[in-house]
Amino acid sequence: MMKGRWIAAGVLLAILGGCGQSPRPSESVTAPGNDAGVVTLHVDAGTSGPVISRHLFGQFAEHLGHGIYGGVWVGRDSPIPNTRGIRNDVVEALRAIKVPNVRWPGGCFADYYHWRNGIGPRRAVTLNPDWGGVTEPNTFGTHEFLDFAEQIGAAPFISINVGSGTVQEAADWLEYMTSDQPTALAQERAANGRKEPWKIPFLGIGNESWDCGGNMTPEFYVDLMKMHARFARNYHPEQQEGDKRMLRIAVGPGGGEPRFTEWTETVMKAWTNRKWSWDIEGISLHNYTVIDWDDKHVATGFDEQGYAEILQATLKMDGLIRQHTDIMDRYDPDRQLALAVDEWGAWYAPAPGSNPGFLEQQNSLRDAILAALNLNIFARHAGRVRIANIAQMVNVLQAMILTDGPKMLLTPTYHVFRLYVPFQDATFVPVSFDAGTWSWNGISLPRIDAIAARDGEGNLVLSLTNVDPHRPASIEATLDGTTASAVSGQTLTGPAVDSINTFEAPDVVTPRPLEAVLEEGRLKVTVEPRSVSVLVIKP
Ligand code: AHR
Repeated sequence: MMKGRWIAAGVLLAILGGCGQSPRPSESVTAPGNDAGVVTLHVDAGTSGPVISRHLFGQFAEHLGHGIYGGVWVGRDSPIPNTRGIRNDVVEALRAIKVPNVRWPGGCFADYYHWRNGIGPRRAVTLNPDWGGVTEPNTFGTHEFLDFAEQIGAAPFISINVGSGTVQEAADWLEYMTSDQPTALAQERAANGRKEPWKIPFLGIGNESWDCGGNMTPEFYVDLMKMHARFARNYHPEQQEGDKRMLRIAVGPGGGEPRFTEWTETVMKAWTNRKWSWDIEGISLHNYTVIDWDDKHVATGFDEQGYAEILQATLKMDGLIRQHTDIMDRYDPDRQLALAVDEWGAWYAPAPGSNPGFLEQQNSLRDAILAALNLNIFARHAGRVRIANIAQMVNVLQAMILTDGPKMLLTPTYHVFRLYVPFQDATFVPVSFDAGTWSWNGISLPRIDAIAARDGEGNLVLSLTNVDPHRPASIEATLDGTTASAVSGQTLTGPAVDSINTFEAPDVVTPRPLEAVLEEGRLKVTVEPRSVSVLVIKP
């Protein structure tokens, strides 16, 4: 078995691994010089990196299983407390994590979605062939989604139908939502209850057009993408200039294989040669943490092997972002285009007894650690990665919230998003440290991960993740370039790496206050095994 040390200096430098024959007890490797197990961090608060956009903490809500119906929408006549059909408990929970944007209506569903079915008093019942083959009542449509976005205070991110829709259909939808002129479409919107146009800050031009979105070649997609970028226009009077303009996100890669590097190359080459008549402001990247699509890991009741394998797999996000950033940098050295990781998260085997097409899964402490590791990767790439959307928001895949009729619970992943709120729109601050290694059966992972940022009030925010399931970590951080007058923190952990919250026991994995001390400009804190902690240090 190869042992390795992990060094992070704002970035993880390498993934070290090896091969072992049989499981053995968890083994922690103490880095030389770290005999006492103390991890020393150097926070260079005098140096500023890019802004960690709040849009890295975006959500994704597809018409899939109970992601919308039951999870967000219960209907106006429901006994479940709601505002215009949207459940109040879910809205309140989402407001607390300051959801910056929500991508909707898909996903693969977006390329089936015909927006006219979801407006007006009479809604057509259609099909949802990809996700369980169920009927789609269309009772949650444009007005309901945009009402929901307003209720939670999030920016709408609309994915238009490039696969089975038309350019005209997409153009009409944008006019319907955004025009303040007395056009037939704007008047129809008013007749349906909304006089004022909506702002649409994000537009996805198709979804996975290399696969469920139409199995297109990159060249074919690029031709369609240009037409949609040209004609699906935002007419909102306050979105015509500068950073208020709608960001158009083209379909980007879904992996690191040659077909995906070719895809990124093709889109970027087209953008380089763009004319006055069309433009885009970003391309997407989709990447799920899955090891074997035909035999997915389970979401609950896994052992340390399942913990180590999934975390090792999730760290590949860093290499994938680098790979596509390198291509983008060749065409766009000034980083004008955003890389939008607009689908990410863990994808496990369906919950026992559930419809496999509904992608229902529980959410454990492992997922909280996975979320923190990914958010840290996005923050380190914040110069290019400016949008990210975890899949998905409620009841689907790595959800924030699970519901069952009137009951609702907050998942361990939700709590990480809540802990990370201070990072929204904060400025990246470099941290260097020797992470040490946690090893299990030939898999070596960085024992500690950390990021830091300066928030709008001048506070230093520090996140510490202890991947080691057994050993606490004593952290000593030097805080260069800042004063430190007070510190407060919260930590998230649970009895085991597979601990979950249930409707019967909803607080098994829930944040608690974390004690930390400041001594002569140094921060000292001990973080528990298998934990995610966030500290706010006042100047
Ligand atoms: O999030 C579930 C599905 O995963 C989305 O619909 C699709 O875009 C991706 O393949």
